[in-house]
Amino acid sequence: MEVLQIIQDAFGYLDDQALAYVADHLGLPLNKVRSVASFYSHFTLKPQGLHTCVVCIGTACYVKGAVGLLGELGETLGIKVGQTTPDGQVSVLKAGCLGVCNLAPAAVIDGEVRGPVAASELLSRLRQT
Ligand code: FES
Repeated sequence: MEVLQIIQDAFGYLDDQALAYVADHLGLPLNKVRSVASFYSHFTLKPQGLHTCVVCIGTACYVKGAVGLLGELGETLGIKVGQTTPDGQVSVLKAGCLGVCNLAPAAVIDGEVRGPVAASELLSRLRQT
């Protein structure tokens, strides 16, 4: 996982070539490396937008309206969760508990944890950057 994280930090995502490289150099089956990369939500297998907004859908955030938050973001930006705007500016993602349940509903914008957040705040923040 550490090697995958280093590669993702360097290139922004893990493509087939990166997964094959890791599998080859660690002597692991490619399917096992791909399974790890696809299981953990903090790994991404496709290029992301210039800005990323990861909304937590863990229990506390779910109860505090995370699904509505995602819906409002998607509707305003014209994309679904897991997609990037056509101009490549914003990707909206979801993740399990971020470990900051006291901030529910929480989100991570370009690596910065925010909460409690409203869709309007997230959109405003994304427009500023
Ligand atoms: S459930 Fe969202 S931070 Fe824990």
